[in-house]
Order: sequence, then C-alpha cells, then structure tokens
Amino acid sequence: MTDISRRTLAAGAGLLIGAIAAGARAQQMPPQVASAVPVPKATPKPLTVNPDKVKGLSADLLRAHHDREYAAAVKALNEVGETLAKVDFSSVSPENLAELKRAEQAAQNSTVLHEIYFDGLGEVPSQPSGLLAQAMSRDFGSLDRWSAEFAGIGKSLASGTGWVILAYAPRDKRLLNYRAESDTMAPAGGVPLLALDMYEHAYAADYGTDATKYIESFMRAIRWTNAERLYREAMRV
Ligand SMILES: [Fe+2]
Repeated sequence: MTDISRRTLAAGAGLLIGAIAAGARAQQMPPQVASAVPVPKATPKPLTVNPDKVKGLSADLLRAHHDREYAAAVKALNEVGETLAKVDFSSVSPENLAELKRAEQAAQNSTVLHEIYFDGLGEVPSQPSGLLAQAMSRDFGSLDRWSAEFAGIGKSLASGTGWVILAYAPRDKRLLNYRAESDTMAPAGGVPLLALDMYEHAYAADYGTDATKYIESFMRAIRWTNAERLYREAMRV
C-alpha cells in the first residue's frame, strides 16, 4: 500500500463511521448496538533490531517506515475494530459492511506482515539452520533456489505495492513462497514466517525506483532466527 492509499484507508474508515451514523439518522436505521464483545486493542510493537546497524537500509528509512506506516496500520486496525464492534449487522448496508471488512482485513494483514518484516531484519548476515533449513531444502530444493524464487517474486511486485511471504502451510505440511499484490491478499491457511514489504514506502527514500537493489539488501539482511522460531510455532498448529 502506498502512503496515499494507506492514508486513504485510515481516512476512509473515519469517513465511513460518520457516513454510517448519518445514514442511520437519515434513513431511520436502528441505532448502533452496544459493543457485544471486548475489542482487542493493538499496540505497535517496538523495533527488535537496531536500525542504525541494518546494512543496506538506512536508519531514517526504517524508523519512518516503522513509526509512520506500521503505526498507521495498527491505528487503522484499532479504529475499524471499534467501529465494527458497534455496528448493527442486521441493518448495516452491504456497501458499508464491505468497506469496513475490507479495511479490517487490510489493516490486520498490514499489521502482522509489518511485524514479521521488521523482525526478519538483522544486523549481521545469517543463514537458516535447524528444522527450517531442512524444510527449505526439502520444499525448495536448495537455499539458492528458494532465494531466487523469493527475490524474483519481489521483482515482479516492483510496481509499488505488495508482499512476498515465506509461509508454512499446515494443511500440506510444507513451505511455500506467496505473492500478495496488496494488503488484502494473504495465503489461505498459510502461517507467515518471513515477509518482504514491496510497497514503495519501504525503499523509495533509499533506492528511489530501484526495487532490485532494495531486494538484494533485504536478502542480505535477513535475520533467520525469527523465521526459525515462527516455523517451530507453526508446526504445532
Ligand atoms: Fe510497509
């Protein structure tokens, strides 16, 4: 999601809340219901890597990405959650419900994938090890083949939006590389282990439109211990 589209999402959620309220008054719709379930409150997760020490990505870029783009996704997730908790589903229009659920899915995916993206960045080069290394060899043939596919998917998304996701599919008990063209696309049943943010805000300040150089820097900065931990947890699903 671009800066503009993310801001549009957040602003749209706010406008929609007002529109639903106005619509309720104008059309004599039933009032919103009191929240029937507790609304989980998401809080931005701090960076787990020192942004000054990630090679190939500047600290200014990483801090702005984390503090502005990721934080906006968390804020949007909270706002849409609070709105949905009060919506009377027996009377809300299909159009308004569609917008709210679209915004919820985008904010949820953006929050989760940004956290995995930042947790996947390290300060020193690393290689996958242990069970994850074995699974990657089994499911991709080799680390080089996995890397070529993962980076290749990134290059195919160099138009300004999307995510590349290494995920574990519990249904098939195997790893897969997924291509998501937007925040609202995510693999069904896949547990994300590693995510590459291909939205322009993730690299434009350092690399302009040169997404290939950004992808190369990301591939060199991967902190595999996080993906290994997520893989161990995913296998217990
Ligand atoms: Fe991002």
